[in-house]
Amino acid sequence: MANWIIVKKKLKKFNKTISVNGDKSISIRWVLLASLANGVSTAKNLLMSEDVEAAIKAIKKLGIKVNIKNKICKIYGSGLNGYKYKKNLTIDAQNSGTLGRLLLGLLVDTKFPIKIIGDKSLSKRDFSRVTEPLKKFGVKIQSNKKLLPVKIFGSKDLKSQYYVEKKGSAQCKSSIMFAALKTPGLTKIKAKKSRDHSERMFKNLKLPINLKKTKNYDLIKINGLKEFNAFDYTIPGDISSAAFFIVLTALSKNSEILIKNININQSRIGIISILKKMGVTIVLKNKRTYKGEKIADIKVKSAKNIKSINCPKNIISSTIDEFLVIFLVAAKAKGISYFKGLNELNQKESPRLIWGSKILSKMGIKNVTTKNSIKIYGNPSLKINKKIIIQDYLKDHRVFMTSVIAALSFGGVWSIGNPEAIKTSFPNFLKIINQLKK
Ligand code: S3P
Repeated sequence: MANWIIVKKKLKKFNKTISVNGDKSISIRWVLLASLANGVSTAKNLLMSEDVEAAIKAIKKLGIKVNIKNKICKIYGSGLNGYKYKKNLTIDAQNSGTLGRLLLGLLVDTKFPIKIIGDKSLSKRDFSRVTEPLKKFGVKIQSNKKLLPVKIFGSKDLKSQYYVEKKGSAQCKSSIMFAALKTPGLTKIKAKKSRDHSERMFKNLKLPINLKKTKNYDLIKINGLKEFNAFDYTIPGDISSAAFFIVLTALSKNSEILIKNININQSRIGIISILKKMGVTIVLKNKRTYKGEKIADIKVKSAKNIKSINCPKNIISSTIDEFLVIFLVAAKAKGISYFKGLNELNQKESPRLIWGSKILSKMGIKNVTTKNSIKIYGNPSLKINKKIIIQDYLKDHRVFMTSVIAALSFGGVWSIGNPEAIKTSFPNFLKIINQLKK
């Protein structure tokens, strides 16, 4: 039997300072790279969610010692060749596309076949987008058509390659970057713009990486087989988690929020430019740089008049995980908002564009949705007075949290299945909502 949460009251006005958990993309990259470093790496504010725990379990299976005490995580790496490959190894990436795909890149030198499996949602997602390019390093990979389980047979004779990434997927780009670390010679990548945390970490680790940015593509060159030292990291807050509170504040009356220590990497903050264009007041305070990543405190105020938007295509990759919750802002805008080029959204933990459309329709918001676009007919006086049920959404954490934000912003009686979905990326989500009620 599924668990349910019932949300039936709009939130009253609030004025609060909050912190959200550590960034998921940076946390997983740190765990994986620390497992290959020489020496003991320490992380503070590592996201303690199921996706990151799955990454920790994975490296432990590969023989890497990990110790977590008082919220501080220590990883005992023993270099690029430090994994202890064993026969009959199966690694469960659970719900995490980032883990499954990036880890495959690190397993190109395995001595025995390793099977990667995942949960129901991950088992529906395309893995050929990484297995096909990884094969070009000379490794054999078997998969269930394009899906999990994937079995990787390493190679002793890895060959560097030139790879062109056209989807704007940071997971594909990073999988190849990670494989390049274990491959002799120069791997060259031409990648459509996407989040660049891997590049920043490589640079910070003084790995031999050369970067050239052009308007739509980044050119990356990596020289393989270079050992690197252990590295400590304080993980900044996740803009993708902050997004729910940015939107909640924008949609609530007479409210304000300050969200502390958020990673504002340019490749992640599309939500800020989109909402500013829609008339939301957002101010970035106390800007600073930490290990090549930009961080700031984000101040948001309730929006009085929300404008519709024709979302520019070049903001898509930097907003990719935030569209669902942004659609709620479009629901309250004056006029019709149009988002196009969203084909990647249906490749996420659930078919998210379809779910975005379903949630809006249940709210009584007219929308016209194709497989890569959505037109949302906003209603500035939207108030919901009915019962809404959200279920069978493959436990997609962002569908769950978007539904809660919709309920708190527009009213109605919402029964939302599987609240445990938040454990994937944002275990404190409901606790922070309760903080805003006090
Ligand atoms: C991620 C990349 C994005 C994003 C995901 C995390 C990453 O996926 O949606 O939540 O950490 O590299 P794609 O690479 O599939 O766009």
